[in-house]
Amino acid sequence: MLPSDLTCALPDFKYDHDSLVQIADTYLTPEYQDLQICYTDDEAFPDNAYREYTHDSGYCRWCMLFFKDLPEDFSDLPLIQDIAELFSCCDSQSTTEKVYENLFFFDIWGELPFHKDNPYRSFGFNIPLVGCSEPTQWWSEESNTLLHEADFSGPMMINTEVMHGCPANTGRRLFLSLDGFTESLSDVRHTLNAQGKIKQD
Ligand SMILES: [Fe+2]
Repeated sequence: MLPSDLTCALPDFKYDHDSLVQIADTYLTPEYQDLQICYTDDEAFPDNAYREYTHDSGYCRWCMLFFKDLPEDFSDLPLIQDIAELFSCCDSQSTTEKVYENLFFFDIWGELPFHKDNPYRSFGFNIPLVGCSEPTQWWSEESNTLLHEADFSGPMMINTEVMHGCPANTGRRLFLSLDGFTESLSDVRHTLNAQGKIKQD
């Protein structure tokens, strides 16, 4: 498998980083934890869901928060329209309504173990917000070896059908992500290239 089948950077996609972090800081809080889908390896969870999940705690937490579940309506954010235009070739994201349904924050404290996202999506579109300095890695189950790693310094599409994760993450890793893709990353990459939206093919 080629690295280009695992990741595709989209450095030209612009987004308002600070506004997104502001929304996350408002709703990724104990007050709104009923809206969040959280997982952890802490046996005390969920009673203790919001204690400090730092590296020192020895526990990890992974939390998803969908825009569609927020009490405030953000569907007129330019970002929603921009994503729908970028992925106009994908039936799963071709309207602003579909994008809004699929958009979520992924808030990780500590290690993100290797996993696959099946059956939820064939690939992801991720936008880094906080603490994404450690590279995302892909792992071969067949050979028990590292297949690839990619810096997460800007928006990128990532293959989520192959084992992937960020075992080296220690502190907080917050990014925006898009659920629901059914197309293959390679097909979409080729189409975006043919449309002149990206340079990688
Ligand atoms: Fe994943």
